[in-house]
Amino acid sequence: MRILGIETSCDETGVALMENEALVTGRVATQEVHSKWGGVVPELASRLHLRTLSTMVNDVFSDAGWSFSSLDAVAATRGPGLIGALLVGVSYAKGLAVSLGGIPYVGVNHLEAHLWAAEISGRKLKVPCLALLISGGHTELVRIDGFRSYTFLGGTLDDAAGEVFDKVGGMLGIAYPAGPELSKMAEPGDPNAIHLPVAETRNPLDFSFSGLKTAVLRRIEQAENPKDKSWKQDLAASFQYAVKEQIARRLRIALGDNSYRSLLIAGGVAANLALRETVREIAVEHGTELIVPPVELCTDNGVMIAYLAVKQLKAIGPSPLDEEADPNLVLVKDVR
Ligand code: KG4
Ligand code: ZN
Repeated sequence: MRILGIETSCDETGVALMENEALVTGRVATQEVHSKWGGVVPELASRLHLRTLSTMVNDVFSDAGWSFSSLDAVAATRGPGLIGALLVGVSYAKGLAVSLGGIPYVGVNHLEAHLWAAEISGRKLKVPCLALLISGGHTELVRIDGFRSYTFLGGTLDDAAGEVFDKVGGMLGIAYPAGPELSKMAEPGDPNAIHLPVAETRNPLDFSFSGLKTAVLRRIEQAENPKDKSWKQDLAASFQYAVKEQIARRLRIALGDNSYRSLLIAGGVAANLALRETVREIAVEHGTELIVPPVELCTDNGVMIAYLAVKQLKAIGPSPLDEEADPNLVLVKDVR
């Protein structure tokens, strides 16, 4: 079973080839152009996907030494994301499937693909699994009881975790997406140097990051020398600590009833090494197995799309060609 996975929901063009759930080759191209605008410009994102996608697909086929005609299925992210960007991948995938004689097309939920990405390195999710999805657009805590069996436990009331890393990074002069560099800036800093709030929410499993963002802004406004390197490192470390602390409190509450066999963190922010360490400690405390995708599979990529598509094909079959891209697709209904 040979499958091509395509990811174009935001500012990464990702393509990958898999054979029987094993990765053959994958490539990711990050659109640098957005950094000068401080965030993703949707129109530019679509145009760049359009420009790069078919070349990248040709490249992975030549890396693998495969011919197009040897392909058994084509998958693309169908949501959530930027509609113009999604349409590039979805239209390409459907067109390719038709041109190859009507091989199956699979439309994939990007959030669901993030969740299952951890399995690509060979570790199956043990259910029930407590999963925290933390990306640039989403922060959701869900219980996984199996494929397509998800229960919503909590989510952010305002900004997503990645979004707050990007915004606070921007305040510290780091270009979008600021998460990776902000976490490097935090490394030499003192996490206890600057007190920052950890939000309390009515549902103890919800998240809120907007107060933290405002608190950081106030500290910068009030600082004697906000450009001082070591002060910035302390602020970055204190901010990262406050995010970790908020996440840790929710995970400890959710794991409190000891009903989970595993704990999973997924999505771009799960690439954060300090957070991975904290979550590891929590898993040990609760005697539950920790599952975290390798760093390169945490951020957007085509491999996770191909992997989930194989699962989906086996469980429910191909997607109809008239299934549309959906910018607001959800993982699980928010029951709040
Ligand atoms: O999953 P992803 O690639 O795209 C979305 O689906 O949103 O996540 C991207 C987000 C960005 O906000 C980025 O700043 C954040 O993940 N991110 C990080 C790190 N690496 C990526 N945040 C904190 N620390 C990191 N090491
Ligand atoms: Zn993502």
